[in-house]
Amino acid sequence: MIDASTQRAEEVFYAALAEKTAAERRVFLDGACAGDPALRAMVEEMLDSQSEADRFFLDSLPALKPSAEICQSVAGADELAKNPDGEISADEDLGKRIGPYKLLQKIGEGGCGVVYMAEQEAPVRRRVALKVIKLGMDTKSVIARFEAERQALAMMDHPNIARVLDAGATEAGRPYFVLEPALQATHADGNVSTDLIYVRHEIRVVDTNISLTRIELKDPVYPFFVTLCLKAYANEDVIEQWTEIRNQENGAVTLEHFASSAPLLHAKEYWLTQFRGDYRREATLSEEKLTPGTKILDSKIGTRASRYRIASFILSLNEPAKEDSGEVFGGSLEWPGSYQMAFDVDWNNHLRALCGINPFGEEYHLKPGETFTTPAMLWTWSNEGKGQVSRNFHRWARSYGIRDGNTSRPVLLNNWEATEFNFDEKIIVSLFDGAKELGADLFLLDDGWFGNRHARTNDAAGLGDWQVNTNRLSHGLSYLAAQANQRGIRFGIWLEPEMVDPASDLYELHPEWAIGQPHRAPDLFRNQLGLDLSRPAVRDFVWRSIDDTLKPNPGITYLKWDANRYVTQPGSTYLPAGEQSHLLIDYNFALLSIMSRLAKDFPQVTAMLCSGGGGRVDYGALKYFHTFWPSDNTDPRDRVFIQWGFSHFFPAITMSDHVTKMGNRPLKFALDVAMSGTLGMDLDVSKLSSGERATVAAGIALYKNELRDVTLRGDLYRLESPYDHPRAALDFVSPDSSRAVLFVYQLQDAANKAVKPRGLNPQMRYRVHEVNLPAGEKSKLADDGKTIDGATLMRDGLVPPCQKEFESSVIELAGEK
Ligand code: GLA
Repeated sequence: MIDASTQRAEEVFYAALAEKTAAERRVFLDGACAGDPALRAMVEEMLDSQSEADRFFLDSLPALKPSAEICQSVAGADELAKNPDGEISADEDLGKRIGPYKLLQKIGEGGCGVVYMAEQEAPVRRRVALKVIKLGMDTKSVIARFEAERQALAMMDHPNIARVLDAGATEAGRPYFVLEPALQATHADGNVSTDLIYVRHEIRVVDTNISLTRIELKDPVYPFFVTLCLKAYANEDVIEQWTEIRNQENGAVTLEHFASSAPLLHAKEYWLTQFRGDYRREATLSEEKLTPGTKILDSKIGTRASRYRIASFILSLNEPAKEDSGEVFGGSLEWPGSYQMAFDVDWNNHLRALCGINPFGEEYHLKPGETFTTPAMLWTWSNEGKGQVSRNFHRWARSYGIRDGNTSRPVLLNNWEATEFNFDEKIIVSLFDGAKELGADLFLLDDGWFGNRHARTNDAAGLGDWQVNTNRLSHGLSYLAAQANQRGIRFGIWLEPEMVDPASDLYELHPEWAIGQPHRAPDLFRNQLGLDLSRPAVRDFVWRSIDDTLKPNPGITYLKWDANRYVTQPGSTYLPAGEQSHLLIDYNFALLSIMSRLAKDFPQVTAMLCSGGGGRVDYGALKYFHTFWPSDNTDPRDRVFIQWGFSHFFPAITMSDHVTKMGNRPLKFALDVAMSGTLGMDLDVSKLSSGERATVAAGIALYKNELRDVTLRGDLYRLESPYDHPRAALDFVSPDSSRAVLFVYQLQDAANKAVKPRGLNPQMRYRVHEVNLPAGEKSKLADDGKTIDGATLMRDGLVPPCQKEFESSVIELAGEK
């Protein structure tokens, strides 16, 4: 029972909480409790208890780690789960700090815990969400963790806590930011503070695998709504998280920060791996231990923003990331534009990972009635190392993240390395015969087929003029497609639809369509400028460029979408002065919608995402593509590293890996490296010797008939990293474990030793068979031809016959039924 004096104390207590600073609070209490020291003492006690409670929740609830501490501090947690109406008898520790709870209602339940709405009676009555974490959680817990955390935080009848995740940390409810804010908005009346209080939530079961949790928050004063969305994929153990921000005020709200996701983690140490690089050095691993303060991984280059670093990372708790043990998170932002991942280790050694669009220069004015939906952040987690994190991403990608992820991929021959801009119709048609001879499924005509007044005969002219060059290709594209089809191969084409060359009809007609800034000389990059997709007429033009290329030429069944520059002068002649900062956001949303239209209107056209190599690799764009081009660097030695890096997030079925002459490595080595992804070629077949042609043809046949089913749809196990070993080794295992393929690439001379495959069925017996050997050569693998059970193979390994730099080995393991 609460008596009158306690009730009065509660009133004063809540009013005191609303004061902005400690000094103001003291002045308020001096007035409110004047002449009533007992009241003052009670309120002070409540305030102390409140901050204790805050500390407790801040320390424990937001921690994504399974916390034995919480289980211990709530006596009989298991009983509680069985008896949701029962009274929680807090243990001594919890009791000392907070006091007992009465459970009101069970709110939700996940693999790792149960969330209750609870009421605390003393010293002050208040409602909280209480999360009881179950011990012995299973590995499917990333979903439960995120949902339980979010629900717990959002449910609290306590804005301070909700704000920790959702609007930037504030101290004791004061409206200033201690950390980078996840959300920062200036309201229509100029107020720069936002309180977000839980309103309601719903959990919608989308299907047997997917659930969507929406937690609606609202500012108590302004008609300003934030909905936290979490889409959970149970089988893949992946969660997508995004935020919807709705303005119902009577004027525009300016959004300064709008993160997609900002979970808090708690561990002893945090080890962050980024995947940085530059042109021809993409996805280079770099791991470091995070120290107090904020570490930012970002991109500010607006479009094809992965050029210097991809928007994906690995975060390992307590120790450097290992392949098959340890707690590891993987994060990847579904956005091709500028991004920011801010990792902030705070005074409690919590880590807050703030992920989303880069707020730099991208302030957004949200008009009344408008909703801003952030791109989704993709998360997965494993307590079995980063290998499982990658497999989770890969499985999710094949089912949900890319086009036709559970089918196969054509083997293509591209003419770029062979001819660059130097070709005509005869040369191209002659290359079809080579493609057929090698066994390719498809021929891809790269850059240089378009432009008339400004012919695209080098990289200085023609972009924007997407009409076939009648001088070079007098019979047009359908003729070429028909010629290819006659030889039993498909035909594809290269486009760079977002770009314009100043030397083009398009630019002469519409110089104002290019991105640029007033009073500044255009900053050319590879002689070209980007088109301003914030302008509706430009969007129409870009779509028409694609549509007018594909529709009249139904024989084109493959498209390589390139983008060879990023944005250095973000300015638009379309957007008003006050909305220049919208450019990069509007651009990328428009880009994604055009890409989505491509996928919808041309389902029969296989699409490759390319960007001067791997400048655009993210699950925002990949949703509408089948593969991406990891790098213009096709030297197989370097590709081992590049493919290794990308494999942390993107499955082999998405990686277009081509055999070329770059680096002059042994042809077998180049083939073996490319075969571990989506195999293709960039070779001038006429320059190959007959022996080389036979080698490539045999490799392609092997790939098509025996390997690609396993590599493209199987689970990847990275066995030996090229960063730590003189060789790289990896294997793929089919979903039913009945087939596996092991790849070994020797990068430095070293004595050969066993490599241990993983992911096999220990009980199954596998026939060991080294493949892709030079014609007439027998395998030097001692176990070749033997049948060995999975347990033995994984324990003892196989000793591949590789010792010298650039030797390689591909070993098939065929399970006996
Ligand atoms: C980019 C691509 C290459 C090729 C050229 C054509 O560099 O990455 O594969 O298509 O453009 O200009």
